Amino acid sequence: MKIFVAGAGGFIGSNIIDKLAQNHEVIALTRQKIHFPQGKNLVSDLVKKDDWKSELASSDVIINLCGNDIARKWTNSIKRQLQDARLKTTKAIVENMDSHQCLINASAVGYYGYALNKTFDEQSANGRDFLAQLAKNWEDQAQLATKKNCRVVIMRLGVTIGNGGAIKNMIGQKFLGGRIGSGQQYFSWIHIADVLHFIQQAMSDSSYHGVYNVCSPNPVTYNDFNKTLSSLLPRIATVKVPNILLKITLGEFAETILQGQKVLPKRLEEKEFTFSYPDLKSALQEVLSKM
Ligand SMILES: NC(=O)c1ccc[n+]([C@@H]2O[C@H](COP(=O)([O-])OP(=O)(O)OC[C@H]3O[C@@H](n4cnc5c(N)ncnc54)[C@H](OP(=O)(O)O)[C@@H]3O)[C@@H](O)[C@H]2O)c1
Repeated sequence: MKIFVAGAGGFIGSNIIDKLAQNHEVIALTRQKIHFPQGKNLVSDLVKKDDWKSELASSDVIINLCGNDIARKWTNSIKRQLQDARLKTTKAIVENMDSHQCLINASAVGYYGYALNKTFDEQSANGRDFLAQLAKNWEDQAQLATKKNCRVVIMRLGVTIGNGGAIKNMIGQKFLGGRIGSGQQYFSWIHIADVLHFIQQAMSDSSYHGVYNVCSPNPVTYNDFNKTLSSLLPRIATVKVPNILLKITLGEFAETILQGQKVLPKRLEEKEFTFSYPDLKSALQEVLSKM
């Protein structure tokens, strides 16, 4: 198959394109040049340029991983950047798709909003906060490709554990390494190898369509996350991060972290999807061994 990966230079993209290229022709669209001898690196911008359109048109599968970092204080200008990096890019892709193609589009478990005492699956309602509404608009934009008879698969991703991304921030003590909030709030996560496995399944099995929670069947509380991480990495901080500091640093985003999200991959379990890393300890061990 010919696969067009948009956002290929980001954390998830850069961790999967080599592996996809072992069995497929891969076009990796990035804004900055990358080293990718296994496939073709197309340096472009989905919103500002159109030199990518012919490669997209001749691809069988489009994997859209465009976005930017959400772990910031959401000023109005940052909110616009978060929206543009997802909505404008997805719109550009969908407008250029045709009926023979499959779109695998990133979204996030943030779709459900945050809650201390609820468990979410794919049937759960959309949340009301900024992130939840952004995810809804993003998914709606991607789903427009179904009107062109394209197969659309939406990945509501949990926090992805791999070399880079959120885990690097936690270990780097940006703010997440310490104890946060009550510690009873849930953290839904997925190992990068299982994201890749999901994408491979969704590409080749046409029964995959619609929304999937792409997260481990074993979400953990922040307390358990920290316990597991500190059992593997004794130098991790156990200092409590004051809620007020989190709110000052992260504004609205602090609430997502303080309340957390317990999300289950119900549709993947129905498909009897096999997770290579269903439990956090083995997932962290594998990633830390490579860092
Ligand atoms: N990683 C996670 O834990 C996680 C969890 C839930 C959801 N997600 C979502 O999954 C997606 C992929 O995650 P990630 O961690 O790989 O994100 P990432 O590291 O921020 O990568 C996103 C990539 O999109 C590119 N991009 C943004 N606007 C573009 C444009 N106009 N044209 C071309 N490329 C553009 C960025 O390019 P530049 O490098 O040039 O800026 C960046 O390389 C994101 O949408 C993210 O929100 C991720």
